[in-house]
Amino acid sequence: MNAIETSGLVKVFGDTRAVDGVDLTVPAGTVYGLLGPNGAGKTTTVRMLATLLRPDGGEARVFGHDVRADPNAVRRLVSLTGQYASVDEDLTGTENLILLARLLGHTRVHARARAAQLLEAFGLTDAAAKQVKHYSGGMRRRLDIAASILNTPKLLFLDEPTTGLDPRSRNQVWDIVRAVVAHGTTVLLTTQYLDEADQLASRIAVIDHGKVIAEGTKGELKASVGVGAVHLRLRDADQRPHAQQVLARALATDVQLDHDPVALTARLSGRATEQAAEALAQLAREGITVDTFSLGQPSLDEVFLALTDKKEAAA
Ligand SMILES: Nc1ncnc2c1ncn2[C@@H]1O[C@H](COP(=O)(O)OP(=O)(O)OP(=O)(O)O)[C@@H](O)[C@H]1O
Ligand SMILES: [Mg+2]
Repeated sequence: MNAIETSGLVKVFGDTRAVDGVDLTVPAGTVYGLLGPNGAGKTTTVRMLATLLRPDGGEARVFGHDVRADPNAVRRLVSLTGQYASVDEDLTGTENLILLARLLGHTRVHARARAAQLLEAFGLTDAAAKQVKHYSGGMRRRLDIAASILNTPKLLFLDEPTTGLDPRSRNQVWDIVRAVVAHGTTVLLTTQYLDEADQLASRIAVIDHGKVIAEGTKGELKASVGVGAVHLRLRDADQRPHAQQVLARALATDVQLDHDPVALTARLSGRATEQAAEALAQLAREGITVDTFSLGQPSLDEVFLALTDKKEAAA
């Protein structure tokens, strides 16, 4: 059973084709990543799937229910945590959850119990009696996700759940997403971060200008864009030209000189870790001192470059 199926989905705002013929298939029980930059059409896609916006063309089904023909059936199955928090600033964490649970039809006793349980699970027990306006960004985001799973939805939309959070809070949100999926909920996650999609999603669609420009498992996507880049900083800027030559030879690739006068970056292809280790050994043999060294995944920019390069090459 697929949680989401869309074909040729379109949404137009004036002259902007915000979503321009999107086909998606999201298997039930998984995290599916919708990865794209600002303005790609992620939120617009999610809002159509959550029946908050009416599509201008194409079709979308959620667990087999057409979003246009049967929005009520869809609403019973989904929950949305928006890019912008929906909790009430002046209420406490507990009050927010109880209020929302009551609106969902829980009895007073049950609402209270569910609120306490979620606050505990999300590490918010100590903050439960504080007004939300005094929460940090990470606490607020966690409360927002808690609010969206008061009733366990079959499909949860998480729209950029970690944008603006520090690394520790991001990790907490990631753990929550994993726990939600372990309970059988399907998650459609939008993100601008490749590493986030990599951490959580089993399949990823890369979206740009309202179109899906690549789709596949994480492995497929990575294979199509290469493994990443090696970035290093030298002790001595004078050694940089020499280091550049050595690296270019060892890695058989172009080596970029960064703005920082001691830094160099090289894109890797095949066996990244082996190549990088060999290159480091080579630098040491040549008497070049490396201060810091990192092996990184390609950035979202690099993914886009690689994907659009490929499209142009195929055209
Ligand atoms: N209500 C609206 N009225 C007019 N234009 C809109 C509206 N909502 C979105 N757009 C436009 O549609 C395009 C897609 O916007 P959308 O919010 O879906 O992008 P996004 O991928 O969620 O971006 P971000 O990462 O910044 O949240 C943008 O060009 C945006 O300006
Ligand atoms: Mg958005």
